[in-house]
Amino acid sequence: MLRNIDINMMNRLMEENEDAKNIITQLLKNYHASVSMIAHEIRNPLTLVSSSLQVMEVQHPEVKTFSNWNQTMDDIQFMCSLLNDLTNYNNGHSLHYSVFQIERLIRNVAVSFALSLDAENSEIEFSSQIIPGMSDFTGDKIKLEQVILNLLRNAKEAITGRGTIFLKAERIDDNIVIECRDSGCGIPEDIIEKIFEPFFSQKENGTGLGLSVARQIVTAHGGTISAYSSPGSETVFTVTLPV
Ligand SMILES: Nc1ncnc2c1ncn2[C@@H]1O[C@H](COP(=O)(O)OP(=O)(O)OP(=O)(O)O)[C@@H](O)[C@H]1O
Ligand SMILES: [Mg+2]
Repeated sequence: MLRNIDINMMNRLMEENEDAKNIITQLLKNYHASVSMIAHEIRNPLTLVSSSLQVMEVQHPEVKTFSNWNQTMDDIQFMCSLLNDLTNYNNGHSLHYSVFQIERLIRNVAVSFALSLDAENSEIEFSSQIIPGMSDFTGDKIKLEQVILNLLRNAKEAITGRGTIFLKAERIDDNIVIECRDSGCGIPEDIIEKIFEPFFSQKENGTGLGLSVARQIVTAHGGTISAYSSPGSETVFTVTLPV
């Protein structure tokens, strides 16, 4: 898997040398195509295994009492989400552009996140401030939605019991600035540099691709994403997208 430092070096080589640019472009295409193909080939039988196990569970409820049954179901679920995340990571750089109202998109994400917290009877207090006047935005609607959801999901996962999450979005000069602030566990200083690396996770069931996908998508839009944390107090992720 390419690290951010490798990607920066590759971009520099591509800028400096036309032949290197052509070869690297071709290699990257092959690399993305191979990952897509492998993910696709694994997904089909995995989906079959998953469906068969679910049918078995319905037809023979006693299987739930077998030792390791629940663990097996969890492992299958984890493999499915890993494949999805891997596919998202692999496709993060290719955008499908459209012109849309980013203000409305952020508002919709905020509403569905609030509803999901309600449905879970969560003790987390969620609020948002989406300041009108953002104008039209050209970008990949679905992928940007994914970025905000990833940040909100991480914020939720960082909170045990009671806590607060605040989502703020506004236009500042020629940028849309989105801020996601939570009162969760925070990120220790020694790992904050690593959280955007693919497969870096401190969660038992985390794939560690959420933030690397988010950074890939934001960078593909010409923007930036950064994290600030005061462990034990708060964590703030800031996404800046040029209009
Ligand atoms: N809001 C947050 N508060 C505290 N730690 C965070 C926060 N957001 C991210 N992190 C840290 O960064 C790590 C990487 O996050 P990332 O979203 O990439 O992967 P993940 O959440 O572990 O797994 P998944 O791929 O399922 O999202 C997390 O495991 C966690 O340690
Ligand atoms: Mg995550």
